[in-house]
Amino acid sequence: MVKPLHAALDVTLPDGRHYPIYIANDLLKTSGPLIAELQGQRRVIIITDQNVAERCLPALQASLSHAEIPFHTLTLMPGEGSKSFAVLEETLTQLLSLAPDRQTMLIALGGGVVGDLTGFAASILLRGVPFVQIPTTLLSQVDSAVGGKTGINTAHGKNLIGSFHQPQAVIIDTQSLATLPPRELRAGFAEIVKAAAIADADFFSWLEENLDGFLTKQPAILAEMITRSLRIKADIVMRDEREGGIRALLNLGHTFGHALEAECQYDGRLIHGEAVALGTILAFDYAATLGLCRADDAQRVRRLFQHVSLPTQCSQIAAFNAAKLVQHMQHDKKPNQGEITLILPRSIGQCEIHPHISADSLQRFWEDALTSKAAH
Ligand code: GLY
Repeated sequence: MVKPLHAALDVTLPDGRHYPIYIANDLLKTSGPLIAELQGQRRVIIITDQNVAERCLPALQASLSHAEIPFHTLTLMPGEGSKSFAVLEETLTQLLSLAPDRQTMLIALGGGVVGDLTGFAASILLRGVPFVQIPTTLLSQVDSAVGGKTGINTAHGKNLIGSFHQPQAVIIDTQSLATLPPRELRAGFAEIVKAAAIADADFFSWLEENLDGFLTKQPAILAEMITRSLRIKADIVMRDEREGGIRALLNLGHTFGHALEAECQYDGRLIHGEAVALGTILAFDYAATLGLCRADDAQRVRRLFQHVSLPTQCSQIAAFNAAKLVQHMQHDKKPNQGEITLILPRSIGQCEIHPHISADSLQRFWEDALTSKAAH
C-alpha cells in the first residue's frame, strides 16, 4: 500500500474552490492513488504529446493500472502548433468518440502546450469536465500548470481564445526534469527568478546560493525551488483569480519579453523563458533609469541569469529596432488601446503595477539599451 502523500501546497480561491499541488521526486509512479483519491476508479483520458509519451507515459499508465483506473490516451504532435483551433477540434472530436460523461477526468501530461489545450478542452467538453495537470517541463511546473488560465493561439495572437478552468490537482514529478533538454530547464529557471523578484527577496538570495544544486538537478533543491516559486504564484492567484488587479504582477518582464519574442516571430531564436529573462533584466534596468530601484538590484538579476547561461543581452539574439519593439509593447495585452502598463520593481522582492507608461520614454530607453554593449 502506498503511503498517503501530503500536498506541498493548496490553492484556495475566494469562493472556496481549492486544489492540492503535489511536488516530489518519482511522483508519477504513485500518481494513480492520487487520482483515485479525487475520483475513485472512474475512467480517465490522458492527453499528452509524442515526446512526453516516450519519457513519462509508461510510469503514469502503470500507476493508473495498478490503482485499477481505466484510461485512454490521446497523443498530440509536440510543439506550439498544437495550441490551435484545428487541434482543439480534432481533440474534442476524439474525446466525444470515447463517450465521456461529466465525471470523466482529463489528465494533461506534458508541457504548457498540452496543459493549456487540455485545460481548455476540459472547460468546454460537455460544458465542463474535471482535469488534472501533470506538468513535465520546469516552465509548466512553475507557471502554466497553476492558475487556471487555459487557451489556444490564433492568427490574432497567443492565448486570445480560452477560459479560466482550475485543475482538480497538480502533480509535479521532479524526475521528469532529468531528461529535459538544458535549454528548456534554463527557460523554467527564468520564471522562478521572476517570481522571487516579484515578491520574495529571501528566496532570491536562496536562489543565488543554490545555483549548483539547480545546475546538477539535485531533487531536493529542485523540489524546494518549485515549491517556493509556486507559493508566490498561488498566493497571488488566490487573491485575484481573474486578473482584476494584483495578478498582473506575474507579468514582470513579460511586456518587454513578449516584444522581443514577437520580433523574433517565434522562430526558435528566443524561447519564452529566455524572453522572460531578458524582459526581467530590462524591467529592472528601466526602473533603475526612472530612479525606482537601485542599479545594483538590476545587476544581481543579470548575474543570476548569466550564471545559468540564459541570455542577458538582446544583441545575443538579434539586431532589434527600438520603434518596432515599442509598437509591440503597445499591443501586448488583450484590447488596451495602445496603453502600456508595466510591472516595475522598487527592489528585489517588491514590484508595483505602473499604468500609463510613456511610449517616448520607452523608445529612448530601448535606443540606449540596444546601443549600450555593456548592458544589452
Ligand atoms: N495556466 C496558467 C495561469 O493561469 O497562469
